[in-house]
Amino acid sequence: MKNHLLEICYLIGSVTFIIGLKMMGNAKTARKGNLIGAFGMTLAILGTIFLHDNNVPTLIYVLIFTAIAIGTIIGWMTAVKVQMTKMPELVSIFNGMGGACAALISLIEIDHMLHMNPLAMAAMVLTGGQGAIIGSLIAIFAGLIIGSVSFSGSIIAFLKLNGTMNKPVRLPYYNIINTVIMFGLFVFAGYMIYSGNVSMPLMYILFAAALIYGVMFVLPIGGADMPVVISLLNSFTGLAAACGGFLYDNKVMLTGGILVGSAGTLLTLVMCKAMNRPLSNVIFGAFGSSTAAGSGADLKGTIKDIQVSDLAVLMNYSKKVVIVPGYGLAVAQAQHIIKELEDLLEERGVEVKYAIHPVAGRMPGHMNVLLAESNVSYDKLVEMEEINPEFEQTDVVLVVGANDVVNPAAKTDPSSPIYGMPILEVDKAKHIIVNKRSMNAGYAGIDNLLFYDPKCSMFFGDAKKALTELVAELKTMD
Ligand code: TAP
Repeated sequence: MKNHLLEICYLIGSVTFIIGLKMMGNAKTARKGNLIGAFGMTLAILGTIFLHDNNVPTLIYVLIFTAIAIGTIIGWMTAVKVQMTKMPELVSIFNGMGGACAALISLIEIDHMLHMNPLAMAAMVLTGGQGAIIGSLIAIFAGLIIGSVSFSGSIIAFLKLNGTMNKPVRLPYYNIINTVIMFGLFVFAGYMIYSGNVSMPLMYILFAAALIYGVMFVLPIGGADMPVVISLLNSFTGLAAACGGFLYDNKVMLTGGILVGSAGTLLTLVMCKAMNRPLSNVIFGAFGSSTAAGSGADLKGTIKDIQVSDLAVLMNYSKKVVIVPGYGLAVAQAQHIIKELEDLLEERGVEVKYAIHPVAGRMPGHMNVLLAESNVSYDKLVEMEEINPEFEQTDVVLVVGANDVVNPAAKTDPSSPIYGMPILEVDKAKHIIVNKRSMNAGYAGIDNLLFYDPKCSMFFGDAKKALTELVAELKTMD
C-alpha cells in the first residue's frame, strides 16, 4: 500500500514539474508554475521520507528535518535578499550544490555496493542479471564525474561572476590538456567498470580528478561568458541527477533530472544562437575578456549629448516612443521610474513600447522580469523580430543602459566579435537617445558605432537619476 502511495506521489511530482516548466515559459504564469513545481517537489520529498522505508530510526528523521530546515532557511534568505543583477551568481551556487549532491550520492552508493552482502548481491543479479550491476555502476560513475565537474565548475563560475577571479587563466595548450583530462576520466571509469576493480580509494581519486577537471574547464573562459557556462553546467547537474534516478529507479528524480538537463542544454543553445556564437567559441574563445576587435580605434564622427529639458520637449511632442532596456537599467534599478515615464507619456497621447532583445541583460528574460516588477503590461514588451520593422515609424528610441544589443557593428563590421548577432535596429528611428553613464563599453568590451550616428544623442547619467530628472521635467510641461 505504502509503495503504491509513493508511486502516486512520484507521478504527481513528475507531472507538476512538466506543467510548472511549461508555465514558466510565459511571464504571466511563471510565478504560479514555479509554485506548482515546488509543490510537486515537496510531495516527492515527503513521500520518500515517510513512505519509502518502514524501519527508519527517529534519529534519522531528526537529522533529515534538521538538514531540510537549515537548507530551507539559507535558501529562502538568500533568494529573498538577492538583487536581480546577482541572479546568475545565485543560480551558479544553487547549481553547484545540485552537482555536489549527485556526486555524494554516487560515493555513498558505491560504498553500499562494495559492502553489500553476497546474498543481496546475488538477489540483484537474479532479478536484473549481471546487466543490473553494470547499469548501476555506470549510473554511479556518470553521476560522480558529471556532478563533480558541475560542482567545482559552478564554484569557479560564481567566483568569476562576483569579481573574485576576474581574469581567465589559460595554461598553454589548455584545450588539449582539458580534452585529455576529460577522456582520461571516462577511460579510468570505464576501466574500473570493465575490470570490476572498484574500490573506495580509486573512487576518491576519480572524484578528485573530476573536481580538478571542473576547475580547468571553467578557468579559461572569460567572466563575461559565465551566464552561458552556468546554463551548460546546469544541464550537467540535471544529467547527474537523472543518473541518480536510474540508480534508485526513482521516476521523479529521473524526470526532474532529464527536464533540468534538457532545459539547460536548450537554454545554452538559445543564448549562443542569440549571440550568433557557436558553443565551442564560448568554451574555447575569449569573448569579453580581452581587448576585442573593432574596439573603436577606427571610429569616425563626434558624440553629441542632449540636455534633459530638450529631451523632455522631444518626447512630449513625439507620436511614438520605443524604449530599449538593457543591463544598465537593471544595475540602476530604474524599472519603476521607467514605468512612470511610460505612464506620463501615454497620458499625453504618446504611444510607448519596449523593445526586448533576447540577450539584453545578463540572463534569459532579464528585462521581462525586471519590467514585470514595475507592472509594465506584457503586451507592451515587443520581441526583436516584431519591433525591428517598427523603428522606421518611431519618433524617439530611448536606449536605457543597453549597448551591445543595439550596436550596428553586429551587422556592418565583419571584424567585430559580435558580428552576426541579431540586433535591435534602432538606427532606423528618427531620433536615438542613449542613456548610460559614460562612453564605457558593454559586455562584449567593444565601442558602439551607434553613438557616432548623427541622429544619436547621449543622455549621460545613472539611469535612475537621469530618468527621474526627465520625469520631473516632463511634469513641469503640463
Ligand atoms: P551591455 O552591452 O552589457 O551594456 C550595458 C550598458 O549599461 C553599459 O555600456 C553601461 O555603460 C550601461 N550601464 C551600466 N550601469 C548603468 C547605470 N547605472 N545607468 C545607466 N547605464 C548603465 O548590455 P546589453 O545591451 O543589455 O547587452 C547584454 C550583453 O550581455 C550582450 O552582449 C549579450 O550577449 C550578453 N549576454 C547576455 C546574456 C543573457 S541571457 N541576457 C547571457 C550571456 C551574455 P556605462 O558604464 O557607460 O554606464
